[in-house]
Amino acid sequence: MASVKISTRGAKRIRLGHLWVYRSDIRDADEAEPGAIVPVVDDARNFVGQAFYSDRSQIALRFLTVRDEAIDREWWRGRLHACAARRASIMKQTNAYRLVYSEADLLSSLIVDVYDGHYVLQTLSQGADRIQDQLLQLLIDEFQPLSIVELNDARVRQLEGLELRSGALHGDGPPEIEIAQHGVKFIVSPRASQKTGAFLDQRENYLAARRIAHGRALDCFTFNGGFALHIAGSCDNVIGIDISSEAVAAAERNAQLNNAGNVTFQTANVFDALREMETAGERFDTIILDPPAFTKSRATVKSGARGYKEINLRALKLLNTGGVLISCTCSYHISEQMFLDLIADAALDARRRLQIVEKRGQSSDHPVLLGVPETHYLKCVIARVIT
Ligand SMILES: C[S@@+](CC[C@H](N)C(=O)[O-])C[C@H]1O[C@@H](n2cnc3c(N)ncnc32)[C@H](O)[C@@H]1O
Repeated sequence: MASVKISTRGAKRIRLGHLWVYRSDIRDADEAEPGAIVPVVDDARNFVGQAFYSDRSQIALRFLTVRDEAIDREWWRGRLHACAARRASIMKQTNAYRLVYSEADLLSSLIVDVYDGHYVLQTLSQGADRIQDQLLQLLIDEFQPLSIVELNDARVRQLEGLELRSGALHGDGPPEIEIAQHGVKFIVSPRASQKTGAFLDQRENYLAARRIAHGRALDCFTFNGGFALHIAGSCDNVIGIDISSEAVAAAERNAQLNNAGNVTFQTANVFDALREMETAGERFDTIILDPPAFTKSRATVKSGARGYKEINLRALKLLNTGGVLISCTCSYHISEQMFLDLIADAALDARRRLQIVEKRGQSSDHPVLLGVPETHYLKCVIARVIT
């Protein structure tokens, strides 16, 4: 197999633990086929590892291993079972979890989510796409899924020159699946939904929120009611807000499914709703902010930060003393420190004093791989208003 040669800088990046080499560090890839798994060497022709090669993306190489080993069926089988073994305790607590999380599981650009035995597959690079059939067969043989659908309509596939597509790959997946998280039931529709059906990355933050939430609560950007329904039992009442009427309809159905009579939902733009509530003199004891990523690139960090600051400022003005703010960002480009700084700024402007109770991240089935900072995207700050 023809090797790909990379610069000393690219090789150093891999030797320091990252898994990507950018196109600017490719010295010679003339013989590499798009999507092939290629051996990679440095300028001095020392072996660096083996990687998926893409002839389109700026991420030209996604490393699978730094060993000179056979990447065959047995290798993939071993990696998939290792993912499952790492999630054994999670599988005892819930029937909905991420089985494979891309780089963080050393399976760059491959994502597999499980919803009550039904699998959702994403192959997000030329390399993962090229071996999709092999992966599909392995998942069927090794895990006996009830069904597998692919959800390959993520924009990142376009950067790889891949078509956007979604649909059934194996079995007849039902349009709706009931999942359970910490005693709360949700109906999810992996085929027609944001994410792959549910925001599984927030699962453990729901529990943290439940521990501290109290009184009158507001769940902003509620989607299908994930936070709202988890905190219902700890609060007098909860209002969930989302701009999507479909999400709100699903949230209302989930509230009924859980007999959560103290939870109501509104279809509204959170920015407007918070302003109107302030004008109306409303007050809350718990406010959750879990917006979509306000910045998806370095270029828009400033405007994204302004959006985060605005909602945090408005929420802080609505909280009673002793109240709790649970504030999230799922933007990789907003670091934890930047996020804390902008919440601190918002607190200064709102003339409130905040205690940080917890600094949290993604659920443990979405682990962070040290050396690959891009795997740490979700930050969740839980703070108490003390004056
Ligand atoms: C990250 S998701 C929230 C996930 C949810 N908290 C959960 O745990 O399942 C962001 C949600 O914000 C909604 N959204 C986006 N912009 C909005 C806006 N300006 N006002 C209200 N909702 C908005 C989207 O429809 C989406 O459901």
